[in-house]
Amino acid sequence: MLDKKVVELLNQQINKEFYSSYLYLDFSNYYYDNGLDGFGNWFKVQMQEENAHAMLFVQYLQNNGESVILEAIDKPAVQLTDAKTVLEETLKHEQYVTSLIHNLYDAAYSVKDFRTMQFLDWFVKEQGEEEKNADDLIKKFTLFGNDPKSLYMLDNELASRVYTAPSLTL
Ligand code: FEO
Repeated sequence: MLDKKVVELLNQQINKEFYSSYLYLDFSNYYYDNGLDGFGNWFKVQMQEENAHAMLFVQYLQNNGESVILEAIDKPAVQLTDAKTVLEETLKHEQYVTSLIHNLYDAAYSVKDFRTMQFLDWFVKEQGEEEKNADDLIKKFTLFGNDPKSLYMLDNELASRVYTAPSLTL
């Protein structure tokens, strides 16, 4: 049996991951609408990753005999003003998700729930990568976003991203 508070936070995280998926689908659609199909593809892959994250939390709860409680997923709440702002919002969102994972880790740590801490280790590392990816995109956009030819090449680069399932298996 897991600690009640830890279970509550694990359930909440399912919702946050699905919200992330929904948010990145919104971002993906924005780029497709604006002719940047490579960026659209990049965020579509990101959406798939977030779905996979949510399912890892589902599986973890089920593996521990806990019930999964699904809540309503909020409407994406980010103003899609321009291509670069969307990237900045991505970094902000990932920093927020990092804070949620750390909060969850802290709750598990406080009750000596070593199993959940070990499960969360993968997410702690993953969040470092997610933040770096978003930051790299901002840097590239700052460098190349104002030159049409360079932007075209960057968009082509992002078009090649393909989804791979998380390395964590439960
Ligand atoms: Fe599920 Fe982007 O972190």
